[in-house]
This record gives sequence, structure tokens and C-alpha cells, in this order.
Amino acid sequence: MYQSKIAGLGKYVPENIVTNEDLTKVMDTSDEWIQERTGIKERRHIKKGDGNTTAVMGYKAAKTALERAGIDKNDIDLIVFATLSPDYYFPGCGVQIQELLGIGTCPALDVRNQCSGFVYGLSVADQFIKTGMYKNVLVIGSENHSGGLDFSTRGRNVTVIFGDGAGAALLTRCEETDKGILSTHLHSEGKFAEELSLIGPSTNKWVPELIEENPQEDIPYYPYMNGQLVFKNAVVRFSEVIMEGLNHNKLTPNDINMFIPHQANLRISQFIQKKFKLDDSQVYNNIQRYGNTTAASIPIALTEAWEEGKVKSGDLVVLAAFGSGFTWASAIIRWA
Ligand code: UT7
Repeated sequence: MYQSKIAGLGKYVPENIVTNEDLTKVMDTSDEWIQERTGIKERRHIKKGDGNTTAVMGYKAAKTALERAGIDKNDIDLIVFATLSPDYYFPGCGVQIQELLGIGTCPALDVRNQCSGFVYGLSVADQFIKTGMYKNVLVIGSENHSGGLDFSTRGRNVTVIFGDGAGAALLTRCEETDKGILSTHLHSEGKFAEELSLIGPSTNKWVPELIEENPQEDIPYYPYMNGQLVFKNAVVRFSEVIMEGLNHNKLTPNDINMFIPHQANLRISQFIQKKFKLDDSQVYNNIQRYGNTTAASIPIALTEAWEEGKVKSGDLVVLAAFGSGFTWASAIIRWA
């Protein structure tokens, strides 16, 4: 059995900043409401013509991660790509990354676990490295939300929250057995599948059916979120999955040096921080600047925390996520 470690991190966010004030020009909302309920001040949106797509942003983040890891693209054994907003219905973005990076051929896998997608992807990568099958695995989380949101007042409870961006991590085999990814913990509860979802168009509801069901309206292929239900489940599942990871490694909340929560809502992160008695220096949040970037949120936050020197060798780093599915997951890492 081998250990895996994160050898390089990268992020990319579009240059175009959309403030809460900007959103008030197209829908009935306010800076006060958004900040008070979510903590978000601004987010990034792809601008038409800037060349960004989910795959392109993922590629930009991946390039930085590879450079920092000092690993040649041709030494990548597997690409794992997490997104809920792929460029194409099919194929997935993983194969696009392989092409964009200019790798001849390599395995590429897409993960469909929404806000938990990056931690799921990390777990997949970790298992392949632990068994010895692969040495270097590139894990990417990237989202283009802005192209698929309802910018009318009807969609305000969802639209103000989400932003675009990408983050990436290069995982490699770790020689030290007590360092790297100690464990990952994955869960799902499909009875809540529709509570945070985009139902159509899909193979279950193609466009003609959507139009037939909503003859008077715009075609409703926008995300739906039962915000309060999601919030209530999130705080419970975040806590559970963090404790599960700590207990598995015979650790306690006191051992945490850096907690990086999926950036769903600043109030959720603050609730968890308080519950685990962590001070501000032990939690990294950037939802204020980027909104919720779903599968990209943890790798973007982890990259920034590392860039700011807040994640150091020997630190216990805890990642945790909750979102659509419902799915939730954690990773316990002893930084190598
Ligand atoms: O990453 C995936 C996981 N996602 C989450 O974890 C999100 C979890 N949920 C949340 O963060 C919160 O539920 C929201 C931030 C989405 C909403 O906050 P809330 O306190 O649950 O608000 P609400 O949905 O209960 O709505 C309260 C009021 C409603 O008006 P009335 O019925 O009281 O008159 C909404 O219509 O706020 C209204 N509202 C808004 N007002 C201004 C909803 N969205 C907006 C908005 N601007 N953008």
C-alpha cells in the first residue's frame, strides 16, 4: 500500500467580477440580503468572448498545479474531472483536458457529485495511488454556472449564490507513510435528489416535454434549490463527516490546523467553526469573493490557503463538502 499526497495546486477564476450591486440591476435583490444570508460580496462570471468554458478554466488551473508539482504532463496517469456544468452533455470534460494539455492518450474520468465532486475525485485518485496502479493523478473541479442561471427575480434564491471558476490538484505517490491523504469518507442520500437539482433537459425530460409542461413560460431548465432544507441537512452532514474522518484517524477537532469547507454559505462555515471551536486562523473562507463555485470551491480555497502560507508541512488539513444529491464527503490530510 502506498500513500498519496498533493504535490501541486492551481486555480483559475474569470476576470469578470459581478458584484451584488450588479445583480440588483437585473433582479429584485439587495447587497444587504445577499451578504446577510450568504456572506457573498461578489463572484466571477465568464464573459461572452473571453474564451473560458468549464474545460478551459479547468485546464488553466491544472497547468498551474502541474508546474508547481514539477510534473510533466506526459507523466499523468489519470485525469479526474469533477463538474456539474460540463461543456457538453457528453463526452465529459476529462477528455478535453487530456487534449488541451497535449497528452497523447491517457485515462480520463468525470465525476458527477456536484459540491462534493472534488472530494469524491480526490478519493478516487487516492485509491488508485494507494493500490499502486497509478503514480500521478490530476484532479480538477471546475464550474461554469453563470451560463445556466435564471437572472430574473424568479431565480434569485439560486442565482445570487453561484460563481464560476476552477481549481486543480496534482496527486502523487508519497514515500512517507504517515503523511499525505490519511483517509476520505463519502456519502449520498438520493431521496433528496430533486431538492437541489436541474431536472431538464435530460433523458428523462427532453426539451419538447419541458415546453409542453410550461407552455406559458420560458423553458425552465434552471437549477432548483430548496434552500432551507439544504441548509439544515448541510450543517448536520458537515459535522458528521468531519467527525467520521477524525475518529477514523484517532484525532480530535483540537488537532485541526486548517479546515477548508466547501464554500456553500458563510453561515454554514461559521456554524461548523463554532461547533468545532476553531478560531479564524484555522478556517479558510473565500465565498465573499467567489460565491459558491460547487466542485471548484475546495480546490480554489485550498490553493489560496497554500499560496498564503496557511497550509504547511505537517499540518492537519480537513476538507469537507455537502451538496446536491444529497452527497457529502471529507478528506483528512497530513500535509506532506
Ligand atoms: O452548495 C450547495 C449547497 N447549498 C447550500 O448549502 C445552500 C443552503 N441554503 C442557503 O444558503 C439559504 O437557504 C439561502 C441563502 C439560499 C436562502 O436563505 P434563507 O434564509 O433560507 O431564505 P429563504 O429561501 O427562506 O427566503 C426568505 C425570503 C423569501 O421571501 P419571503 O417569502 O419571506 O417574502 C425569499 O423570496 O427571502 C426571499 N429571497 C430573496 N430576497 C432578496 C430569496 N432570495 C432572495 C434574494 N434577494 N436573492
